[in-house]
Amino acid sequence: MITTVTLNPAIDITYYIPAFQSNQIHRVDSMYKEPGGKGINVAKVIKTLKAPVMVTGMIGGNNGRTICHLLDSYSISHDFQPISGESRLCLNIIDQHSHQTEILEQGPVVSEKELGIFKGHLEELSKKSSFVIFSGSLPAGAPQYAYGELIDLVQHHGAKAIVDTSGKALEFALAAKPFMVKPNINEVQEIYNQKKLTKEEIWKIIESWHASGITASIVSYGAEGMMVRIDEQQWTINPPVVKAVNTVGCGDALVGALAVGFYNHLPYEEYLINATAAAVSNAMEKQAGKVNIERIDQYKQGIILKKE
Ligand SMILES: Nc1ncnc2c1ncn2[C@@H]1O[C@H](COP(=O)(O)OP(=O)(O)OP(=O)(O)O)[C@@H](O)[C@H]1O
Ligand SMILES: [Mg+2]
Repeated sequence: MITTVTLNPAIDITYYIPAFQSNQIHRVDSMYKEPGGKGINVAKVIKTLKAPVMVTGMIGGNNGRTICHLLDSYSISHDFQPISGESRLCLNIIDQHSHQTEILEQGPVVSEKELGIFKGHLEELSKKSSFVIFSGSLPAGAPQYAYGELIDLVQHHGAKAIVDTSGKALEFALAAKPFMVKPNINEVQEIYNQKKLTKEEIWKIIESWHASGITASIVSYGAEGMMVRIDEQQWTINPPVVKAVNTVGCGDALVGALAVGFYNHLPYEEYLINATAAAVSNAMEKQAGKVNIERIDQYKQGIILKKE
Protein backbone atom coordinates (compact mmCIF):
# COMPACT_ATOMS: atom_id res chain seq x y z
CA MET A 1 0.00 0.00 0.00
CA ILE A 2 0.91 3.69 -0.20
CA THR A 3 0.89 5.57 3.11
CA THR A 4 0.53 9.35 3.23
CA VAL A 5 1.67 11.28 6.29
CA THR A 6 -0.13 14.48 7.36
CA LEU A 7 1.35 15.71 10.63
CA ASN A 8 -1.00 18.72 10.88
CA PRO A 9 -4.33 17.67 9.29
CA ALA A 10 -7.35 19.98 9.16
CA ILE A 11 -11.07 20.23 8.63
CA ASP A 12 -11.31 22.45 5.54
CA ILE A 13 -14.58 24.40 5.50
CA THR A 14 -15.56 26.42 2.43
CA TYR A 15 -18.35 28.99 2.76
CA TYR A 16 -19.90 30.64 -0.31
CA ILE A 17 -20.97 34.11 0.89
CA PRO A 18 -21.94 36.66 -1.81
CA ALA A 19 -20.90 40.25 -0.96
CA PHE A 20 -18.71 39.08 1.91
CA GLN A 21 -17.06 41.89 3.86
CA SER A 22 -15.76 42.40 7.37
CA ASN A 23 -17.86 43.98 10.13
CA GLN A 24 -21.13 42.57 8.70
CA ILE A 25 -23.46 39.69 9.50
CA HIS A 26 -23.63 37.20 6.63
CA ARG A 27 -25.72 34.17 5.86
CA VAL A 28 -23.95 31.33 4.15
CA ASP A 29 -25.30 30.50 0.66
CA SER A 30 -23.74 27.04 0.50
CA MET A 31 -20.84 25.25 2.13
CA TYR A 32 -18.80 22.09 2.10
CA LYS A 33 -16.60 20.40 4.66
CA GLU A 34 -13.58 18.32 3.65
CA PRO A 35 -10.81 16.41 5.37
CA GLY A 36 -7.75 18.56 4.60
CA GLY A 37 -3.99 18.87 4.80
CA LYS A 38 -1.62 18.12 1.92
CA GLY A 39 -1.09 14.42 2.71
CA ILE A 40 -4.85 13.91 2.86
CA ASN A 41 -5.24 15.61 -0.55
CA VAL A 42 -2.57 13.27 -1.94
CA ALA A 43 -4.49 10.29 -0.48
CA LYS A 44 -7.76 11.43 -2.14
CA VAL A 45 -5.98 11.43 -5.52
CA ILE A 46 -4.44 7.99 -4.91
CA LYS A 47 -7.89 6.66 -3.95
CA THR A 48 -9.41 8.15 -7.12
CA LEU A 49 -6.66 6.45 -9.16
CA LYS A 50 -7.61 3.16 -7.50
CA ALA A 51 -4.39 2.28 -5.64
CA PRO A 52 -4.48 1.10 -2.00
CA VAL A 53 -3.86 4.03 0.35
CA MET A 54 -3.55 4.59 4.11
CA VAL A 55 -3.63 7.99 5.79
CA THR A 56 -1.64 8.60 8.94
CA GLY A 57 -0.40 11.52 11.05
CA MET A 58 -1.36 13.01 14.40
CA ILE A 59 -4.88 14.11 15.33
CA GLY A 60 -6.69 15.28 18.42
CA GLY A 61 -10.02 16.38 19.90
CA ASN A 62 -13.44 16.64 18.28
CA ASN A 63 -11.93 18.10 15.11
CA GLY A 64 -9.70 15.03 14.90
CA ARG A 65 -12.76 12.77 15.17
CA THR A 66 -14.51 14.78 12.44
CA ILE A 67 -11.47 14.38 10.14
CA CYS A 68 -11.74 10.59 10.63
CA HIS A 69 -15.50 10.62 9.85
CA LEU A 70 -14.90 12.71 6.73
CA LEU A 71 -12.22 10.25 5.57
CA ASP A 72 -14.68 7.40 6.23
CA SER A 73 -17.15 9.12 3.90
CA TYR A 74 -14.51 8.82 1.13
CA SER A 75 -13.78 5.20 2.17
CA ILE A 76 -10.16 6.22 2.73
CA SER A 77 -8.43 4.05 5.36
CA HIS A 78 -6.78 5.95 8.21
CA ASP A 79 -4.64 5.09 11.20
CA PHE A 80 -3.70 8.26 13.11
CA GLN A 81 -1.75 8.66 16.33
CA PRO A 82 -3.93 10.49 18.90
CA ILE A 83 -2.44 13.61 20.55
CA SER A 84 -3.65 15.82 23.42
CA GLY A 85 -4.17 19.04 21.35
CA GLU A 86 -7.15 19.85 19.10
CA SER A 87 -6.68 19.41 15.35
CA ARG A 88 -7.12 22.59 13.34
CA LEU A 89 -9.91 24.08 11.31
CA CYS A 90 -9.24 26.05 8.12
CA LEU A 91 -11.88 28.35 6.69
CA ASN A 92 -12.10 29.55 3.09
CA ILE A 93 -14.75 32.19 2.32
CA ILE A 94 -15.57 32.68 -1.38
CA ASP A 95 -17.63 35.67 -2.57
CA GLN A 96 -19.55 36.25 -5.82
CA HIS A 97 -16.37 37.39 -7.62
CA SER A 98 -14.62 34.15 -6.55
CA HIS A 99 -12.39 36.21 -4.25
CA GLN A 100 -11.12 34.03 -1.44
CA THR A 101 -10.56 34.93 2.22
CA GLU A 102 -8.65 32.20 4.03
CA ILE A 103 -8.53 31.84 7.82
CA LEU A 104 -6.04 29.16 8.82
CA GLU A 105 -5.52 27.91 12.36
CA GLN A 106 -1.95 27.01 13.26
CA GLY A 107 -2.94 23.67 14.76
CA PRO A 108 -1.84 22.01 17.99
CA VAL A 109 1.68 22.11 19.39
CA VAL A 110 3.00 18.54 19.48
CA SER A 111 5.29 17.39 22.28
CA GLU A 112 8.55 15.49 21.94
CA LYS A 113 6.87 12.53 23.64
CA GLU A 114 3.97 12.55 21.13
CA LEU A 115 6.40 12.68 18.21
CA GLY A 116 8.33 9.77 19.73
CA ILE A 117 5.14 7.69 19.97
CA PHE A 118 4.24 8.64 16.39
CA LYS A 119 7.64 7.34 15.20
CA GLY A 120 6.82 3.90 16.61
CA HIS A 121 3.39 4.06 14.96
CA LEU A 122 4.88 4.99 11.58
CA GLU A 123 7.52 2.27 11.92
CA GLU A 124 4.76 -0.37 12.05
CA LEU A 125 2.91 1.17 9.06
CA SER A 126 6.11 1.43 6.99
CA LYS A 127 6.65 -2.35 7.31
CA LYS A 128 3.39 -2.77 5.33
CA SER A 129 3.97 0.10 2.86
CA SER A 130 5.78 0.23 -0.49
CA PHE A 131 5.80 4.04 -0.41
CA VAL A 132 5.44 6.58 2.40
CA ILE A 133 4.65 10.15 1.32
CA PHE A 134 5.49 13.13 3.57
CA SER A 135 3.57 16.24 2.55
CA GLY A 136 3.29 19.74 3.91
CA SER A 137 4.84 21.71 6.73
CA LEU A 138 5.70 20.40 10.17
CA PRO A 139 3.40 21.03 13.15
CA ALA A 140 4.39 23.51 15.86
CA GLY A 141 6.67 21.80 18.37
CA ALA A 142 8.30 19.43 15.86
CA PRO A 143 12.01 20.04 15.19
CA GLN A 144 12.95 21.05 11.64
CA TYR A 145 14.86 17.79 11.17
CA ALA A 146 11.71 15.70 11.92
CA TYR A 147 11.13 14.60 8.29
CA GLY A 148 14.81 13.62 7.99
CA GLU A 149 14.45 11.22 10.92
CA LEU A 150 11.12 9.84 9.67
CA ILE A 151 12.57 9.26 6.17
CA ASP A 152 15.49 7.30 7.69
CA LEU A 153 13.03 5.28 9.72
CA VAL A 154 10.69 4.26 6.87
CA GLN A 155 13.53 3.58 4.38
CA HIS A 156 15.24 1.40 7.01
CA HIS A 157 12.13 -0.80 6.83
CA GLY A 158 12.24 -1.02 3.04
CA ALA A 159 9.53 1.53 2.17
CA LYS A 160 10.41 4.26 -0.33
CA ALA A 161 10.02 7.82 1.00
CA ILE A 162 8.48 10.59 -1.14
CA VAL A 163 8.74 14.18 0.09
CA ASP A 164 6.87 17.38 -0.74
CA THR A 165 7.69 20.11 1.74
CA SER A 166 9.57 23.43 1.90
CA GLY A 167 12.17 25.48 3.78
CA LYS A 168 14.38 23.90 6.43
CA ALA A 169 12.16 20.80 6.55
CA LEU A 170 12.97 20.24 2.84
CA GLU A 171 16.71 20.77 3.41
CA PHE A 172 16.76 18.12 6.16
CA ALA A 173 14.59 15.83 4.05
CA LEU A 174 17.00 16.08 1.08
CA ALA A 175 19.93 15.18 3.36
CA ALA A 176 18.11 11.95 4.31
CA LYS A 177 18.08 10.89 0.59
CA PRO A 178 14.43 9.99 0.05
CA PHE A 179 13.41 7.96 -3.01
CA MET A 180 11.63 10.97 -4.56
CA VAL A 181 11.35 14.75 -3.99
CA LYS A 182 8.85 17.14 -5.62
CA PRO A 183 9.42 20.78 -4.69
CA ASN A 184 8.09 23.56 -6.91
CA ILE A 185 10.53 26.08 -8.41
CA ASN A 186 9.91 28.69 -5.68
CA GLU A 187 10.69 26.15 -2.98
CA VAL A 188 13.99 25.23 -4.69
CA GLN A 189 14.95 28.91 -5.09
CA GLU A 190 14.17 29.50 -1.42
CA ILE A 191 16.42 26.74 -0.05
CA TYR A 192 19.29 27.77 -2.38
CA ASN A 193 18.76 31.43 -1.39
CA GLN A 194 18.34 32.53 -5.02
CA LYS A 195 15.71 34.84 -6.54
CA LYS A 196 15.78 33.28 -10.01
CA LEU A 197 17.44 30.02 -11.01
CA THR A 198 17.76 29.21 -14.73
CA LYS A 199 16.73 25.83 -16.16
CA GLU A 200 20.45 24.96 -16.56
CA GLU A 201 21.02 25.70 -12.87
CA ILE A 202 18.00 23.58 -11.92
CA TRP A 203 19.38 20.64 -13.98
CA LYS A 204 22.67 20.98 -12.05
CA ILE A 205 20.81 20.97 -8.72
CA ILE A 206 18.80 17.93 -9.81
CA GLU A 207 22.08 16.26 -10.84
CA SER A 208 23.49 16.91 -7.34
CA TRP A 209 20.39 15.35 -5.73
CA HIS A 210 20.81 12.34 -8.01
CA ALA A 211 24.53 12.06 -7.10
CA SER A 212 23.60 12.12 -3.39
CA GLY A 213 21.36 9.04 -3.87
CA ILE A 214 17.87 10.42 -4.62
CA THR A 215 16.28 8.27 -7.38
CA ALA A 216 13.53 10.60 -8.66
CA SER A 217 13.76 14.40 -8.60
CA ILE A 218 10.91 16.52 -9.90
CA VAL A 219 10.80 20.33 -9.92
CA SER A 220 7.36 21.64 -10.85
CA TYR A 221 6.67 24.96 -12.60
CA GLY A 222 2.89 25.43 -12.32
CA ALA A 223 1.32 25.96 -15.78
CA GLU A 224 4.78 25.44 -17.35
CA GLY A 225 4.93 21.82 -16.21
CA MET A 226 7.96 20.12 -14.68
CA MET A 227 11.59 19.03 -14.99
CA VAL A 228 12.16 15.38 -14.12
CA ARG A 229 15.10 13.08 -13.48
CA ILE A 230 14.59 9.37 -12.73
CA ASP A 231 17.79 7.32 -12.44
CA GLU A 232 19.89 8.35 -15.47
CA GLN A 233 17.03 9.77 -17.59
CA GLN A 234 15.76 13.36 -17.81
CA TRP A 235 12.61 14.92 -19.29
CA THR A 236 10.73 18.20 -19.43
CA ILE A 237 6.94 17.94 -19.54
CA ASN A 238 4.54 20.73 -20.50
CA PRO A 239 0.81 20.45 -19.75
CA PRO A 240 -1.78 21.67 -22.26
CA VAL A 241 -2.89 25.30 -21.95
CA VAL A 242 -6.13 25.30 -19.96
CA LYS A 243 -8.34 27.89 -18.25
CA ALA A 244 -7.55 26.81 -14.69
CA VAL A 245 -10.28 27.02 -12.02
CA ASN A 246 -8.16 26.45 -8.87
CA THR A 247 -4.50 25.43 -9.00
CA VAL A 248 -4.17 24.86 -5.23
CA GLY A 249 -3.33 21.18 -4.73
CA CYS A 250 -1.95 20.60 -8.26
CA GLY A 251 1.36 19.58 -6.65
CA ASP A 252 -0.51 17.17 -4.36
CA ALA A 253 -2.32 15.64 -7.35
CA LEU A 254 1.01 15.30 -9.16
CA VAL A 255 2.68 13.61 -6.16
CA GLY A 256 -0.26 11.22 -5.66
CA ALA A 257 -0.35 10.25 -9.33
CA LEU A 258 3.45 9.83 -9.53
CA ALA A 259 3.34 7.50 -6.51
CA VAL A 260 0.58 5.44 -8.18
CA GLY A 261 2.73 5.22 -11.36
CA PHE A 262 5.70 3.87 -9.39
CA TYR A 263 3.40 1.56 -7.41
CA ASN A 264 1.97 0.08 -10.64
CA HIS A 265 5.46 -0.21 -12.25
CA LEU A 266 4.35 1.71 -15.33
CA PRO A 267 6.95 2.72 -17.95
CA TYR A 268 8.29 6.13 -16.88
CA GLU A 269 7.08 8.15 -19.86
CA GLU A 270 3.56 6.71 -19.62
CA TYR A 271 3.22 7.55 -15.99
CA LEU A 272 4.76 11.03 -16.31
CA ILE A 273 1.99 11.78 -18.80
CA ASN A 274 -0.68 10.21 -16.54
CA ALA A 275 0.56 12.23 -13.56
CA THR A 276 0.59 15.49 -15.50
CA ALA A 277 -2.97 14.81 -16.74
CA ALA A 278 -4.08 14.20 -13.12
CA ALA A 279 -2.46 17.50 -12.04
CA VAL A 280 -4.19 19.36 -14.91
CA SER A 281 -7.49 17.75 -13.90
CA ASN A 282 -6.99 19.12 -10.37
CA ALA A 283 -6.46 22.61 -11.85
CA MET A 284 -9.91 22.30 -13.50
CA GLU A 285 -11.75 21.50 -10.24
CA LYS A 286 -12.87 23.87 -7.47
CA GLN A 287 -11.61 21.57 -4.71
CA ALA A 288 -7.94 20.93 -3.94
CA GLY A 289 -7.10 17.24 -4.19
CA LYS A 290 -9.91 16.46 -6.62
CA VAL A 291 -9.17 14.65 -9.86
CA ASN A 292 -11.89 13.78 -12.37
CA ILE A 293 -10.95 10.32 -13.60
CA GLU A 294 -13.30 10.55 -16.62
CA ARG A 295 -11.54 13.65 -17.92
CA ILE A 296 -7.91 12.56 -17.37
CA ASP A 297 -7.59 11.01 -20.85
CA GLN A 298 -8.72 14.22 -22.55
CA TYR A 299 -5.92 16.20 -20.79
CA LYS A 300 -3.29 13.70 -21.98
CA GLN A 301 -3.81 14.91 -25.57
CA GLY A 302 -2.02 18.25 -25.31
CA ILE A 303 0.90 17.18 -23.10
CA ILE A 304 4.39 17.65 -24.56
CA LEU A 305 7.06 15.32 -23.21
CA LYS A 306 10.67 15.99 -24.23
CA LYS A 307 13.64 13.74 -23.42
CA GLU A 308 16.61 15.85 -22.26
N1 LIG B 1 -2.45 26.56 -14.56
C1 LIG B 1 -2.13 25.30 -14.84
N2 LIG B 1 -2.46 24.75 -16.03
C2 LIG B 1 -2.13 23.48 -16.34
N3 LIG B 1 -1.47 22.65 -15.50
C3 LIG B 1 -1.11 23.13 -14.30
C4 LIG B 1 -1.42 24.47 -13.89
N4 LIG B 1 -0.93 24.65 -12.65
C5 LIG B 1 -0.36 23.48 -12.29
N5 LIG B 1 -0.46 22.56 -13.27
C6 LIG B 1 0.07 21.18 -13.27
O1 LIG B 1 0.30 20.79 -11.92
C7 LIG B 1 1.68 20.50 -11.70
C8 LIG B 1 2.10 20.95 -10.30
O2 LIG B 1 1.81 22.33 -10.17
P1 LIG B 1 2.61 23.35 -9.24
O3 LIG B 1 4.01 23.51 -9.73
O4 LIG B 1 1.76 24.58 -9.16
O5 LIG B 1 2.62 22.57 -7.85
P2 LIG B 1 2.68 23.17 -6.37
O6 LIG B 1 3.16 24.59 -6.38
O7 LIG B 1 3.45 22.20 -5.57
O8 LIG B 1 1.14 23.11 -5.93
P3 LIG B 1 0.46 22.88 -4.48
O9 LIG B 1 1.57 22.95 -3.46
O10 LIG B 1 -0.58 23.93 -4.35
O11 LIG B 1 -0.16 21.51 -4.50
C9 LIG B 1 2.43 21.19 -12.83
O12 LIG B 1 3.65 20.52 -13.12
C10 LIG B 1 1.42 21.11 -13.98
O13 LIG B 1 1.50 19.84 -14.62
MG1 LIG C 1 3.40 22.09 -3.45
